[in-house]
Amino acid sequence: MSTIATPDMRKPAAAAADFLPLQGTDYVEFYVGNAKQAAHYYKSAFGFQSVAYSGPETGNKETVSYVVRQNKLTFVFTTALRPGHPVSEHTHLHGDGIKMLALRVEDAADAWRQTTARGGKSYMEPATLKDQFGEVVISGIHTYGETVHLFIQRKDYEGAFMPGFREWKSSYNPPSTGLLYVDHCVGNVGWHQMDPWVRFYENVMGFRNILSFDDNDISTEYSALMSKVMSNGNGFVKFPINEPAEGKKKSQVEEYLDFYKGEGVQHVALATKDIVGTVTQLRDRGVEFLQVPASYYEELISRVGQIDEQIAPLAELGILVDRDEEGYLLQIFTKPVEDRPTVFFEIIQRKGAQSFGKGNFKALFEAIEREQEARGNL
Ligand code: FE2
Repeated sequence: MSTIATPDMRKPAAAAADFLPLQGTDYVEFYVGNAKQAAHYYKSAFGFQSVAYSGPETGNKETVSYVVRQNKLTFVFTTALRPGHPVSEHTHLHGDGIKMLALRVEDAADAWRQTTARGGKSYMEPATLKDQFGEVVISGIHTYGETVHLFIQRKDYEGAFMPGFREWKSSYNPPSTGLLYVDHCVGNVGWHQMDPWVRFYENVMGFRNILSFDDNDISTEYSALMSKVMSNGNGFVKFPINEPAEGKKKSQVEEYLDFYKGEGVQHVALATKDIVGTVTQLRDRGVEFLQVPASYYEELISRVGQIDEQIAPLAELGILVDRDEEGYLLQIFTKPVEDRPTVFFEIIQRKGAQSFGKGNFKALFEAIEREQEARGNL
C-alpha cells in the first residue's frame, strides 16, 4: 500500500503557526465565452440562484460578470466584451475554465504580504473596494498555470456581492439541488511539476501535504497519474495536485493539459448531504456523469462493508463508495462541462471519511479512459 497519510493528518496546526488563516472558499470564478449562457446553465442544471451582475450598466465597459449562489457555493462567470482583452485571450487559449480560486481571509493585505514575502508572485496588490454597502479588500497571487488565488476580506459588506456589482434579480429561480460548499479543488500540472507546486503550497501558503498517491495507486492498464493533497491549517481548504505519469497510453492529465493548453483546475468537488437526491436532480436536469460497470456494485458491500444507503439507487445513478479508517464517502464525477475535455465536477457526500476515494480510482479511471477513447485521445 503506497498511500502515505502523514501522522499529523487531522491535527489542526497551532493557530499561532498559521500565517495564512483561511475561512474557506469565497468564490470560484470562471472565464467563459458567454457568461450570460453559462450562468443560465448553472442555474438550470445545477440549481444555483441569481445573486449579482457587473457590466456596462454598472460602469464596467470591458467585461460582464454574473454571480450565482447555492448555499455556501458562489460561482462567478466572466466574459470579455471585446477581443484582445485578457479575459478574451484567456478563453481563446484555454476555452472555458477556472481563473480564480478566491479564498476568504480576515486580512487581505496581510495575506498578500505573508505570501509574497515567501516567494508568491503578486497578481494584485491589496485594494479596498467601496460602495454604499460597505468595503471589500482584495489581493491575489498567482498559482499553477494562469490560475490565481484571490484573498477576499469582507468587512461586514452588505451588498449583493462586492462593489462594482449590483443585485441580479431574475424571474427564473429553479430549485436548489442540495449542493452546499466546495469540498476540494484539484489542479492538473505538467510533467514533474507536482513536487514544485507542493513546495509552493507548503512554503508560500503554509499548507501541509496530508495524502499522497503514486502511479501504483492511480493507474490502469493504460494510463497513470500521481497526486498529492495539500490542506491549509484548519482543513477548510484542500487542493490536490495531479501530474501525469507514464503509462501505455495517454494519461487523462495529459489530455487535459493538451486541451487546456497548460496547467489549470481539473475539477471542483461540491459537497451535499444527500447525494442520491442531489444526483437525481442533476441528472434529471441534464448533467452527464461518468458511469462504472454494473459489476462495481456486485463487489461493493464486500469491499466497503455496510452502509446506510440502499445499493439499487446508487447503482442506478452510478454513485461510487469508498471507506477509510474514519468512515465512508459517496462520490460521482460529471463528464467535462464544456466541449474541451477539461473542467468537470465531483459531487461528494462524506460520512466520516476524510479521504478522496482511492478505492474507486481504478473503476473511475477506466470510465475516464472509455471517454478518452471515444474522443480519440487515449
Ligand atoms: Fe476529487
